[in-house]
Amino acid sequence: MTDLPETMFAVTQTHDGYSGEATGPVIEDASDWLAEAELPLPQAGPGQVLIRMRMASVNPSDLHFIKGEYGQPRVKGAPAGFEGCGEVVAAGQGAEGLMGQRVAFVAAGSGAWAEYVVTQAQMCIPLRPDISDEDGAAQIVNPLTAMAMVDIARSDGDAFVLSAATSQLGKLMCSLGRDLGLKPIALVRRAEAVEPLKELGAEAVLVTTDADVIDQFAAISKNLKPRVFLDAVSDQLSEQIFAAMPNKARWVSYGKLSAEPPRLTQMGQFIFMGKRIEGFWLTQWMMSTPPADQMRVVAEVQARFADGRWKTDVSTHLPLREVVSGLADATKKTDGKIMITP
Ligand SMILES: NC(=O)c1ccc[n+]([C@@H]2O[C@H](COP(=O)([O-])OP(=O)(O)OC[C@H]3O[C@@H](n4cnc5c(N)ncnc54)[C@H](OP(=O)(O)O)[C@@H]3O)[C@@H](O)[C@H]2O)c1
Repeated sequence: MTDLPETMFAVTQTHDGYSGEATGPVIEDASDWLAEAELPLPQAGPGQVLIRMRMASVNPSDLHFIKGEYGQPRVKGAPAGFEGCGEVVAAGQGAEGLMGQRVAFVAAGSGAWAEYVVTQAQMCIPLRPDISDEDGAAQIVNPLTAMAMVDIARSDGDAFVLSAATSQLGKLMCSLGRDLGLKPIALVRRAEAVEPLKELGAEAVLVTTDADVIDQFAAISKNLKPRVFLDAVSDQLSEQIFAAMPNKARWVSYGKLSAEPPRLTQMGQFIFMGKRIEGFWLTQWMMSTPPADQMRVVAEVQARFADGRWKTDVSTHLPLREVVSGLADATKKTDGKIMITP
């Protein structure tokens, strides 16, 4: 403990609780939501570890969270950021086994956008040496969600639909789907994304800005009969896609990238076609999946990153001290993750 400082630099939340709004994971100026602070070094309690952050990723959930529209309330003055990787530099009672290890973590005590982070030992995954910090800092939230949701898709046939397929999670699901012999039908909003996604494993790629996209989808749906729609956009076009899906289709909303609220137009389909709308949240999956099953999924995730079947695309490396001034600009590049460095 002697080489640890008494204080640390952190990017903290400037609001408490929920905003009551849903304006989407878009920010114009990070200083509307975040501030710089020098905070006392957090202490690891029983079952917890103190991690020296090496890299932290910026996910849409982080932006929803600082804006007060995520599934848990903000705490004013606490560091922001859910996910990253770093070295365990102190361990509370019962967590000594992680001391000195490089781990991927989800922050559950103090946020990841800080020089040091406290979290539960259970929220840490020791990283193999052949995993880069970039992959390590994006090792939990999207990869586990991809594994869990493709599992939902394969329980219901071989074709499935996914929206925002250019997202990191969308790309993970396309290639995983292909590797499992499934047929991902990808929705994107940029025509230049079509070929790269086909190369990654999509059976078909539709551009949502095409005027006849619903007709194109209806033709593919009739042929491939997808029964699961993994949807991160959740807007009116999503509703139209769902309405064009066959009997017993499931619309699994797991993200709200669009601020547009959808309107249901085909209530009869719930009655006569057995269709359903549901949600997916990784936090819920972690609470309901037995630890042994989670360990198997974690091992498969690391194997996929280590042998190159999966990789994390990075758009920007953003130093912690430039987050408040530079985050909004960095989010304009959507072709990869923003990685925060100490
Ligand atoms: N429920 C859960 O447990 C869970 C877990 C992990 C992630 N998620 C959700 O999964 C989604 C993807 O996360 P990620 O980290 O993979 O994202 P990401 O890599 O940051 O990518 C976001 C992508 O969304 C696209 N996008 C943004 N706004 C859009 C809109 N209004 N309509 C259509 N596409 C839009 C962008 O596409 P362009 O290339 O066209 O700009 C961008 O590629 C997010 O909604 C996130 O909240 C949910």
